Amino acid sequence: MEKRVFIKTFGCQMNVYDSTKMLSLLRPLGYTETETAADADLMLLNTCHIREKAAEKVYSDLGRLRDLRLKREKIGKATLIGVTGCVAQAEQDEVTRRAPYVDVVLGPQSYHRLPELVAAAEEKHTGKRPNLIAADFTPESKFDQLPMAGSKQGSSAFLTIQEGCDKFCTFCVVPYTRGAEYSRTAAAVLEEARILIAEGAVEITLLGQNVNAYHGLAADGTSWGLAQLLHAVAALPGLQRLRYTTSHPRDVDTALIEAHRDILILQPLLHLPVQSGADKILSAMNRKHTAAEYLDTIAALRRARPDIAFSSDFIVGYPGETDADFEATLELVRLVEFVGAYSFKYSPRPGTPAAELAATSVPEAIKDARLAALQELLQKQQYSFNQRALGTEQEVLFSDTERSDGMLFGKTAYLQSVIVEAPARLRGRIERVHIEHAGTNSLKGRLIINEEPLAA
Ligand code: 5AD
Ligand code: SF4
Repeated sequence: MEKRVFIKTFGCQMNVYDSTKMLSLLRPLGYTETETAADADLMLLNTCHIREKAAEKVYSDLGRLRDLRLKREKIGKATLIGVTGCVAQAEQDEVTRRAPYVDVVLGPQSYHRLPELVAAAEEKHTGKRPNLIAADFTPESKFDQLPMAGSKQGSSAFLTIQEGCDKFCTFCVVPYTRGAEYSRTAAAVLEEARILIAEGAVEITLLGQNVNAYHGLAADGTSWGLAQLLHAVAALPGLQRLRYTTSHPRDVDTALIEAHRDILILQPLLHLPVQSGADKILSAMNRKHTAAEYLDTIAALRRARPDIAFSSDFIVGYPGETDADFEATLELVRLVEFVGAYSFKYSPRPGTPAAELAATSVPEAIKDARLAALQELLQKQQYSFNQRALGTEQEVLFSDTERSDGMLFGKTAYLQSVIVEAPARLRGRIERVHIEHAGTNSLKGRLIINEEPLAA
């Protein structure tokens, strides 16, 4: 029987990748994807636990899904609801307590068990609904059992090479939700990359919570670092753009810096979260580097690849952060000139060491003011970077999404969004574009027409 699954994905790119894997896993059970929750026989929330806001959103969404299910059940349509991802891992008891009607609760390390749990829940449809939970930490068996083919990612694909984290930044839930650091073998990564390219990918982004801590077993029995893996993936025929995210400043080694010099398809944009520019706060966060060391790493990368640009993550209002500490963050931002950034107010997370520091917490109003000041500066930097693109020629990877207005949406090497009038047949291709307009969040451009006729 044809059945429909709806997945709403929260949080990071790894969750986006995981959602594509879950869809592949559910296909043999007869499920195809729907974008409309009301049409779904199976409704999944793939959740994020990184900040309180993201986690709380899950419970309000679950209430809405329950209402939809009641409506569907009135017309005789059975419906299952599942919670996957990091909230499922971290709050399995709370999920079953606050939303006892949920059928499946599944942590990120157990996705290979999704078909089994969904099949069991389908059986129990008519009776009581015992929650079926799987939340064990077994990355080895997970990756062995997830399908590599058929993830339908299109021209720009994600590929998880590393998962989990051993760094234990004091604010962060990742070591508790995604578990200890684990690297896939080089052979598995290369095989999946080949499949993604055969399925249409021209751009691959290698993913990991701490991607540059990668240390995967290679065919020759040695352990490869990220730089070696990047060289091998870049050599695969057909691939035109390569990226990786997210890196920790501590794990940027010489080989990785040289990879940015030597690998032409490695895109000149690096997301390198710094969180704070104050050494006192960096140390309290257990980041294991100073502001000066971060700036040295940035300088070394710029020497290796002069056109490289940087984006980053920031946390304002970490416990004990003073005005002077915050000023140090602004100063670091002025020195680096980021081209994009995510910035957040510190949010205490249960189970993390920083959650114990309530006595030195920063008042909400001060956090708000600092966040506004930081975001204003970062946006100015992003705007002036975009302005510098005016009048230049940029390579743009057009997205696969169809539009009705004769325009295509694409991304530059620096992940700037560009809107261009272009025929639909250029979807999923990289073309040269002359940039004619630049705002804070997007560019507009004109297709540079080469020898090929443009008729669709
Ligand atoms: N509060 C606020 N921001 C956080 N991040 C991680 N944990 C927290 C927290 N407890 C931010 C960091 C990280 C990004 C993914 O989310 O900046 O780099
Ligand atoms: Fe969290 Fe990143 Fe630190 Fe890991 S390295 S604990 S993911 S902030």
